[in-house]
Amino acid sequence: MLVSSEDFYAQYYDILYSHRNVKSEVDFLEKVFQKHAKRSVKKILDVGCGTGIHSVELARRGYSVLGVDASKVMIERAREKAKDIDNVSFMVADARHLKLPEKYDAAIAMYGVISYFTTDEDALDFLKSIRESLESGSIFVFDTWNMLGVLEKRVYYETPSTHVRKYGSLIALKEESWRLNVLSQTSTAEISWSVIDLKSGVIDTASHTLVLRLFTPRELKHLLRESGFEVVTMFEDYTCKPITESSSELVVVARAV
Ligand SMILES: C[S@@+](CC[C@H](N)C(=O)[O-])C[C@H]1O[C@@H](n2cnc3c(N)ncnc32)[C@H](O)[C@@H]1O
Repeated sequence: MLVSSEDFYAQYYDILYSHRNVKSEVDFLEKVFQKHAKRSVKKILDVGCGTGIHSVELARRGYSVLGVDASKVMIERAREKAKDIDNVSFMVADARHLKLPEKYDAAIAMYGVISYFTTDEDALDFLKSIRESLESGSIFVFDTWNMLGVLEKRVYYETPSTHVRKYGSLIALKEESWRLNVLSQTSTAEISWSVIDLKSGVIDTASHTLVLRLFTPRELKHLLRESGFEVVTMFEDYTCKPITESSSELVVVARAV
C-alpha cells in the first residue's frame, strides 16, 4: 500500500533506523554535558525529536525532557512509546518559533534536523528560537552534513544506492539518489522505501523528495555566533573524532552565551 511519507516514517522510523546506536549517542551527549556545560543539566529540550528515541533514552537516565517536532504523527508515536515514563513530554511545534514557558539546561537536535532549514533566515530563526529556550551556559548539540566533505565525495553521493535491511519478519528496501546543488549548498534527495512483511505479505511503500542544506563549519560558527552561541568544538561523529575537511558529517557542540 502506498502511504504518505509522514505516516510511513511515524510507523516504521524506529525499525528503519534501528541500526543506529542511540545508547552510545546518548553516552556521548552525557559526556559533553559533563565536560562543557556551565550549569548542571537536568532539563533537556529535544528539537525535531521525531519518534522521541533520544528523549526516551535521556528520560530513562533521569533527565526531565521535552521533545518538540513539527509532525503530529511523529509526536503521537513518541507519546505512545513514552506513556509509562513520567519525566518526558512531547509537543507539536515549529522549531523556528518556539515559545516555551520555561527554559532548559541543554538542547539537542539530532540526525540532521538543522539541514531541513535551507535558507539562512530559517536556519537563524531555528538557532535563535533554541537560544531563547535555553539558560546561559547551556550546551546545544546537533549534527548535520559538511558541505566540504560531501563535495569531495560528490560521485559517491550522487550515485543512486539501494540498501536492504532485515528486522524480524520485515524486510526494508531503501532506494536513494542525491543531486548536489553546489551554488545553493543544498542536496535534493529522492528517497523510496518499501517494507515487506514476510509473515502477513503486506507491502507498504513511500517516496519523497527532501531538500537538505549543506553547511560549512565556518558558516555554522557564524550563524551560531549571530544567534547567541559560541562553538565549543566540532566532531566528525559521535566518537569524538576531530573534523577534517573530508568529514561528511559534523557534530557541533555549542554553548549559549
Ligand atoms: C531526520 S528526523 C530526526 C528525528 C530525531 N531527532 C532522530 O534523531 O531520529 C528530522 C525531524 O525534524 C522534524 N522537523 C522538520 N522541520 C521541523 C520544524 N520546522 N520544526 C520542528 N521539527 C521539524 C521532522 O518532522 C523530523 O521528525
